[in-house]
Amino acid sequence: METVEKAKSKPSVRKRADAIKKFRCKNLIAVIENPEDIKNIGTVIRNVNALGVESVYVVDPRKSLPEDWQEIRDRKSLMKTSVSAVKWTFVKRFDSTQECIEHLQKRGFASIVTSPHVKGKTNVFLHEGDYTQFSKLAVWFGNEKRGISELAVESCEMCVAIPMFGMIESLNLGTSSGITLYEVTKQRRQYQSEYKSSKKKRKRSKPLPTEMPREE
Ligand SMILES: C[S@@+](CC[C@H](N)C(=O)[O-])C[C@H]1O[C@@H](n2cnc3c(N)ncnc32)[C@H](O)[C@@H]1O
Repeated sequence: METVEKAKSKPSVRKRADAIKKFRCKNLIAVIENPEDIKNIGTVIRNVNALGVESVYVVDPRKSLPEDWQEIRDRKSLMKTSVSAVKWTFVKRFDSTQECIEHLQKRGFASIVTSPHVKGKTNVFLHEGDYTQFSKLAVWFGNEKRGISELAVESCEMCVAIPMFGMIESLNLGTSSGITLYEVTKQRRQYQSEYKSSKKKRKRSKPLPTEMPREE
């Protein structure tokens, strides 16, 4: 029975995987710095997958994740908390913030950090930022208690805040990554739809769609 179910679902899964490919935001990475709760890692992976971000980097000095992506994919706790999104999302772990920064810089990625507080030199509210100005972009989210590190702030281009209107100081990782990545991916998908390259030179004659048709 299970085999029949699997066999039946395969073509539809493949069809979905093909359909979403062109909506994925190229050269966009979400970085989670030193997360303590596996549920939060799973939730960010779920958000990343759902919103079409390319991959997730985890700064993981506690070594809570395995080195190898295949092994990360097989982690039951992550399968559960990400509702299987980890199966479809590339996840890479780093021992330290420094190692992650060096890896990103070597590959030409600019970093922006997120924080409810003013950090570093350039601070913007989420809706004010232009997230298409960097062709390769990493968006950093900080630790549940301590927030983003000074080291990450020092190496970033700007610090982005979701405006807060309540009595509490901050949002949790899942919510803040969902809200932030929604805005960043919306802008970058719009850009990819209009331009062929990262240098705003080669405009497409016909914009690509930015939305998936909704299923009945
Ligand atoms: C629970 S918060 C950390 C709170 C911590 N006390 C601090 O000072 O940042 C975890 C992460 O979610 C993100 N975050 C939470 N609220 C945010 C907001 N209003 N704007 C931008 N990012 C936020 C940041 O990346 C933050 O490091």
